[in-house]
Amino acid sequence: MTSAQPAAVIVLAAGEGTRMKSATPKVLHTLAGRSMVGHALAAAQGLNPERIAVVVRFERDKVAHHVLEILPDAVIVDQDDVPGTGRAVQCAVSVLDATIHAAEAAANSGSTQNPLPLSDGLSGPVVVVSGDVPMLDAETLAELLDAHVTDGNAVTVLTTELRDATGYGRIVREGDGSVAGIVEHKDATPEQLEIREINSGTYVFDSAVLRRALGSVDRNNAQGEVYLTDVLALARAEGGAVRAVRTDDPWLVEGANDRAQMSVLRAEFNRRITEFWMKEGVTIVDPATTWIDVQVELEQDVTILPGTQLFGETVVRTGAVVGPDTTLENVVIESNATVTRTHGSDSRIGESATVGPFAYLRPGTELGVKGKIGTFVETKNAKIGNGSKVPHLSYAGDVEVGEATNIGAGSIFVNYDGVNKHRSTVGSFSRTGANNLFIAPVHIGDGVYTGAGTVLRKDVPAGNLAVSAGAQRNIEGWVERRRPETDSARAAAKARELNLTAQNTLGAQARAELARAESPKAAPVPNGNGNANQSYTVPETSTPSEGNID
Ligand code: UD1
Ligand code: CA
Repeated sequence: MTSAQPAAVIVLAAGEGTRMKSATPKVLHTLAGRSMVGHALAAAQGLNPERIAVVVRFERDKVAHHVLEILPDAVIVDQDDVPGTGRAVQCAVSVLDATIHAAEAAANSGSTQNPLPLSDGLSGPVVVVSGDVPMLDAETLAELLDAHVTDGNAVTVLTTELRDATGYGRIVREGDGSVAGIVEHKDATPEQLEIREINSGTYVFDSAVLRRALGSVDRNNAQGEVYLTDVLALARAEGGAVRAVRTDDPWLVEGANDRAQMSVLRAEFNRRITEFWMKEGVTIVDPATTWIDVQVELEQDVTILPGTQLFGETVVRTGAVVGPDTTLENVVIESNATVTRTHGSDSRIGESATVGPFAYLRPGTELGVKGKIGTFVETKNAKIGNGSKVPHLSYAGDVEVGEATNIGAGSIFVNYDGVNKHRSTVGSFSRTGANNLFIAPVHIGDGVYTGAGTVLRKDVPAGNLAVSAGAQRNIEGWVERRRPETDSARAAAKARELNLTAQNTLGAQARAELARAESPKAAPVPNGNGNANQSYTVPETSTPSEGNID
């Protein structure tokens, strides 16, 4: 990377981006996990400039708020009513000068020595980038800056050649290859429109040259705007060296003006990210259906199965397998864990743990080493210790589970009383029964067992068995009395009229199983439709006398 440090990077982000047809300003639309202006800021930061200024106007509060969230010490510059990229940079230069002077004045007032005279403000190289060129990276900017410093240029512009240069400013070169200037598409002659080398909108300027040239740009052009591009011809006219650095990778300088272009850029960006990780030793079975944000970190020998999206600050460590059809945002997956068909955010999955298929990990889920969050399980603010399992059909919210505990199928941590959320705990080496309700806050000790269907309203001390379901009662004839005229009542009546034995009042399936259990070679149950696997259906026309009982 470059050793030169620019005085400032100015990011142009005042435009509306009308072709996006959006209430959201164009520079806040996202791809690969960052807004477009976020990508510009990341590239700018890579140069380690003294200051980063962002020029705003359309939806200025939204853009400024977003920028300051990413970079609290960014200088926000408001552009006035005068349109054009040149005006944007004029505004930025005067605000940066004022910022520098304010800092110098503050340093003077804080010192006991004689005050130093104020400087000229901005001096040295100044980089200008657009807020809508998301794939421009710090490396390319550093190369541009290096060329500028090494060659002693007044202006250095980043260019590329396009097959179709429609809409872009064209680079007009002299016979010796130096840059004479830039002409905008709308101002170009037919001959100039043939030029395929275009202005990327990324430049390095010498501050003094920039300040002087911006003092004499006008609005005499097809769009009536102050063009930043006019600075190049003006710099040349005063004897400065104006050169171009041409990149042969047009993607780096591609701007996004509408949502269709954004999707094309997004796909290419993703293609590069997935290719990068594959070259780092990650298996990505289907890069086309795998989406990975720029901030994601993957270790060697991670496997990503098709249909997986890894967003935000997700980290996947070696040997882990993620997917298929999994979406994770800000999730850390430790080595050798498996996460299958899962949707999760702001969570941590321990080493060799397993999650899914069909799990929903909400923020604050922490699964220990070799732990398990199984099928149709939702978790939130749930710390599940090493070797502990929540395998089936459960909701674990606001709970801490110790080690080697098993939470029975179909259990719910009832964490909300309608007003407040409460937290529960379950100790280590406990086994809770199926279909338990943990009415929070409730605390279950170590080595506890609970019966199936227990409603836990009271704490359970270590080593206890907790049961709350009463003994089963069968209330004879209830269905025919209390649910008359229903299919159930008719089935009950039929069974009663046929005077079946108690055993035969069980369903067909149960009878078959009983018969099988009593004699492995037993014939199919007498009363079924013959086949034990078939469900018992009453023929619509059947009357009691047609019953096939022997
Ligand atoms: C600009 C260049 C053109 C170049 C192209 C590359 C000028 C005059 N033209 O044209 O040579 O090929 O970029 O993409 O510079 N902006 C402001 N304030 C304004 C106008 C624009 O901050 O008053 C910002 C926009 O938000 C955007 C950037 O400047 O981030 C470029 O503006 P845009 O309108 O897209 O310029 P182009 O017409 O594409
Ligand atoms: Ca543009």
